[in-house]
Amino acid sequence: MPSHDSTLEEIKDRIDIVDLISDYVQLKKAGQNWKGLCPFHAEKTPSFTVSPAKQIFHCFGCGSGGDIFTFLVRSENLSFPEALKILAKRAGVTLKTSQKEAAETGEKEPLFNMNKDAAWFFQQNLPKNSQAAGYLKGRGISDEVQKQFVLGYALNSWNALLNFLARKGYKPDMVKKAGLAVQGSKGVYDTFRDRIMFPIYDLKGDVIAFGGRAIDNTEPKYLNSPETPVFNKRRVLYGLNLAKDSVKDAGQVLLMEGYLDVITAHTFGFTNAVAPLGTACTQEHGKLIKRFAEEAIIVFDSDEAGNKAAKNAAGILLESGLHVKVLSIPGKDDPDSFLRKKGKEAFQALLARPLSIIEFFMLQKGDKRIIAREAIETISRTPDKILQGTYMKMLSEKLNVEERYVREEYQRIKKQHRAGHNSSVLPAQPKPKARPKNELYIIKLLLQRPERAGDVCNKIVSDDFKDPVARSVFNRIKEGTTELNQLISQCDGEEKNYLTGISLNEDIENPEFEDPEKALNDCITRIKENKRKMLLQELQGKIREAELKKDFALLKQLQIEQQQISRNS
Ligand code: UTP
Ligand code: MN
Repeated sequence: MPSHDSTLEEIKDRIDIVDLISDYVQLKKAGQNWKGLCPFHAEKTPSFTVSPAKQIFHCFGCGSGGDIFTFLVRSENLSFPEALKILAKRAGVTLKTSQKEAAETGEKEPLFNMNKDAAWFFQQNLPKNSQAAGYLKGRGISDEVQKQFVLGYALNSWNALLNFLARKGYKPDMVKKAGLAVQGSKGVYDTFRDRIMFPIYDLKGDVIAFGGRAIDNTEPKYLNSPETPVFNKRRVLYGLNLAKDSVKDAGQVLLMEGYLDVITAHTFGFTNAVAPLGTACTQEHGKLIKRFAEEAIIVFDSDEAGNKAAKNAAGILLESGLHVKVLSIPGKDDPDSFLRKKGKEAFQALLARPLSIIEFFMLQKGDKRIIAREAIETISRTPDKILQGTYMKMLSEKLNVEERYVREEYQRIKKQHRAGHNSSVLPAQPKPKARPKNELYIIKLLLQRPERAGDVCNKIVSDDFKDPVARSVFNRIKEGTTELNQLISQCDGEEKNYLTGISLNEDIENPEFEDPEKALNDCITRIKENKRKMLLQELQGKIREAELKKDFALLKQLQIEQQQISRNS
């Protein structure tokens, strides 16, 4: 990575970090900084801090930090060159050819290109196959909508796609890597055969995977691409590439169950519909939605499986800080069949009166006490205390009991959680490591008073630092980089976390900082003193060993060393 790259600095200057991060995290102003819920770990109170003045972010919950590049790399799962390319474009900065090449020779770019070629191939095949074209017509999907969703058809052949891609220069290994071919005992063959193809897009507009529906009763009904370097189904929502603007405008997403539900919803003008890809709703989905809207309406099938999935999704989406409502479709219909049978207005009427989480839970069949407990457990997941209060009040009204009983039950469930009996999906909160204080002070002071670096470096050597991260940061300062943003560009992940932490942590600002000169000298003295104590301790150990071995020559030498160290204090 280039250490003094002026393009990096130019890009950082042109992009407001608060602006960028706001696309992913809801930030609120807090003094000079902005705060929000950390996108990198699950938390209920905001410890994720963004400083527009310093152009950095840091989470005091999990310890991760960095600049705009670090942020994009981590949230979009990109390589550094890929993040550079995207941010350069956003900033209107032209990259050097070498930087562009680095972004394109990444592992992902060829997979995107190949997937795009495959989508084109499937699309070409669709009108040529009367059965496939007839199937889509039969389901009421117009040519226009087929084009909008780039629907296609995988020929009933073991190698049509492999052959097509080979002519384009793609090796079978690459095709396998993209999940478009499978290794069999007799050779490699096409994954998708005789299926209607649904390309799956990411938000940049790249094809990252496919879903394929059987035309007859072949099992499985839907076959999806396996996980690949560009496809992680936990992080993708079908249709979001087309829906995102509409989701933003409406402030609301319609979360459905299937490909065809989404396509039909869009056809009928409900262009904020998306769906997970045959998986349960995940925290990643929640965070993804949160980037575009505050509210999610769950529109699942009203069968038992659909209700169970909806209850589960409700908890997860609440956890992401979303407002969640549920739309219950009458009868045995799913959104697709309901829209086709009853039409746009009927769906609109349902949408006008969605169920609250509480109403939805209380409509479930079964023992009301068990259901109430499930509801309490679900609403306890929202970080929004006011919302939680509203829900508890509603629940007590529905159950016709005093609110305090609901609250007591809530406390009991929470206690159980704390005792570890929970089934909560929250990953354990990684705690940032405790760091030696004096060393933190020195680095912080050096960043604030870079003109003192030369003098300090004469008084202290990197070996004096106990903490290896502090030591390597100190070495970089010693080599002449004293500007925070330049340091961050140069250093590795741990060092970035360290630097952003000390830059944004106001607790490190101890009273002695009123006289920074004195504080600096005190820190140096203490670090030296600590180092001396450590050396003495080590020597003491060696001396004891020499005594036991009766190695008197060594003992004498060690004692001289001991005297020298004591005298230097
Ligand atoms: P459904 O069985 O409800 O299908 O599965 P659907 O969307 O209504 O499809 P049609 O109307 O029968 O064509 C819902 C979603 O679950 C996933 C797919 O994403 C599907 O859209 N699924 C379903 C699979 O991944 N594999 C399957 O075998 C079935
Ligand atoms: Mn269906």
